[in-house]
Amino acid sequence: MNIKRAYTPPAKLYLGSAYYPEQWPEAGWKEDIRQMQVAGFNVARMGDFAWSRLEPAPGQFNFDWLDRAIAMLAEAGIDSVLATPTAGPPAWLVTQHPDMLPVDKDGRRAQFGNRCHYCVTSPEFHAAVRRLVEALAQRFGPNPHVLGWQLDNEYNRTCYCPRCQHQFQQYLAQRYGALDELNRRWATTYWSQTYDAWEQIPLPVGPHNPGLMLEHKRFITESYRRFQRLQIDALRLHLLPETWITHNFMFWHDGYDHYDLSEDLELASWDWYVGMGQHDYRSSGAAHDLVRGYKRQNFWLMETQPGNVNWKPLNNAIDKGGTRLMAWHAVGHGADAVLYWQWRSPLGGQEQYHGTLLDTTGQPRPFFAEAQQVGRDFAAASRLLAGARPVAETAILHCPASRWSIGWQPHHQDFDYLEHLLHYYKPLAAANIPLDILSADSLLDGYRMVIAPALLILTPGRAAALKAFVANGGHLLLTLRSGMKDEFNALLPLRQPGALAELTGAEVEEYYALENPVPVLGEGWQGASRLWAERLKLLDPATQVLARYGASNGWLDGCPAITQHAFGKGRVTFVGAYLDEASQAALLQRLLAEAGVQPVLVTPEGVEACRRVGEDGEEILILINYTHQEQRIGLPWRAYEHLRGQAIQGELRIAPLDVALLSHA
Ligand code: GAL
Ligand code: ZN
Repeated sequence: MNIKRAYTPPAKLYLGSAYYPEQWPEAGWKEDIRQMQVAGFNVARMGDFAWSRLEPAPGQFNFDWLDRAIAMLAEAGIDSVLATPTAGPPAWLVTQHPDMLPVDKDGRRAQFGNRCHYCVTSPEFHAAVRRLVEALAQRFGPNPHVLGWQLDNEYNRTCYCPRCQHQFQQYLAQRYGALDELNRRWATTYWSQTYDAWEQIPLPVGPHNPGLMLEHKRFITESYRRFQRLQIDALRLHLLPETWITHNFMFWHDGYDHYDLSEDLELASWDWYVGMGQHDYRSSGAAHDLVRGYKRQNFWLMETQPGNVNWKPLNNAIDKGGTRLMAWHAVGHGADAVLYWQWRSPLGGQEQYHGTLLDTTGQPRPFFAEAQQVGRDFAAASRLLAGARPVAETAILHCPASRWSIGWQPHHQDFDYLEHLLHYYKPLAAANIPLDILSADSLLDGYRMVIAPALLILTPGRAAALKAFVANGGHLLLTLRSGMKDEFNALLPLRQPGALAELTGAEVEEYYALENPVPVLGEGWQGASRLWAERLKLLDPATQVLARYGASNGWLDGCPAITQHAFGKGRVTFVGAYLDEASQAALLQRLLAEAGVQPVLVTPEGVEACRRVGEDGEEILILINYTHQEQRIGLPWRAYEHLRGQAIQGELRIAPLDVALLSHA
């Protein structure tokens, strides 16, 4: 069973934190909740890691305390999100089924007590999860104060036990049908890898056959997806129609395909930790846009740091004022909720030193005041922003399989798929261009410009979608390492960019990993390419050369580095170079102008302008000043500023580290 319902955007913004009432005497909950009200919180997430309190012995459920906590919170106007506690299986379960502990690459079984200590394919674990989640669903599913459910917590382990290997082999048998087909797709005649029985196929514990490596990632995805579906099926029947199900994903975690897992969820959410240092909005916005792209709708920021984390070599606090800007940055990129992790410092456990709202005594820490400010902000902004979402005319395509494939064989130790994607994202973010980050398998209707960074894996479906996009007038930007491999991670018997050569009017004659940057000479600019350079060859006399390589390794000298080609009603720019920042910004400016893409607003450096658009088309601007100076911004229209409650005509002044929320007056 898999009844999926749409996520209905809430009628307000949510602010709150993770709350672990089970760790504290019940007599103190009232005071906790009073403090939450003082902070302006309206949501609490509970239950993750509470398995041993919810089911102290097999089949013996103890849910009353959670019922009381939900009710006390509700009475104070605070809704609940419940997390299934499956990332913390209790000791009794592990004692019963030691075989449910995951095995690492070196064959060692995990120890109890460090969470996520489960093999995701263990049938005994599944049975225990089903029993508990069903019982939780029966009890709390009909509760109108439970807004939604988070499944598990940050899926992350990969298990190498014999059962996982066996299931991997079964997965392959189903996918390929016949071993001959697998042998052909994986080119196993190479190094005599030919398989004549499914049982011979290993789990890759290090570098291995590229086809096998990619299928293993798909198998991990599929294993988590089955585990997730099991929980969804246990929950669904008992939930109210408007109750959503989510999972809290981690940053740019690359353990599995997030798009596949998101298909079965109504809502995407994620956990944003800066960790060490301070955040840079030009790159952190990409992680928000990524998560918004999982479901192509607004998301929840299910966890974020109140001050500092505890798991970095240096756990500095975010500078004063910074987390307020982080909250607004998240909202600007489509968050409908911001939840801190966590409420109060636990006396024990592995996370004793993590930032919280209350200290061990139950008194507010200095950070509390900043959360309170966000609470006031959200109260003022809530109604305006409810139902509004970011809208972009430019999409960046993201392909987990290309990222994995390049990561396994980078060919240049410093080449990183993600860094390359951000090389395109950052200058656009700095120019306040709204961006969507989408699966490379998405429909592309409605965009003016699509950027496909290092789209290594090119399936016929992707090629057809890109062709239709350009034929209908879209501007496509293809970069280096494009169109080189098929979905089995095998090289195509075609020159790059494979089936897209028709669009680019150019192909790659050769690619070079670079020892040193090579000069790139454009029209009116001189730059350089680092790490990588592709020597382009024109296939159509109408293809325009936008830049050529200067003298370098001899092979590249004078050859086209960047080309442009008209196709149908659209245009394709093909970038074979990894440009320096100034040249990259100049190139992107030109392409934006050609595609007619407009920024939200032109702002001074260090001021971000985000836009959300209401269902009625109302435009709402969020301006964030990350600098330590007052900034002045010319407004194109008469505006109303909602955080201060003022009408503004002409010039807006934003104080250092401050935010403005504008709509048309
Ligand atoms: C997250 C996790 C939380 C908490 C937090 C600390 O990854 O979901 O439970 O451990 O990190 O930063
Ligand atoms: Zn396993």
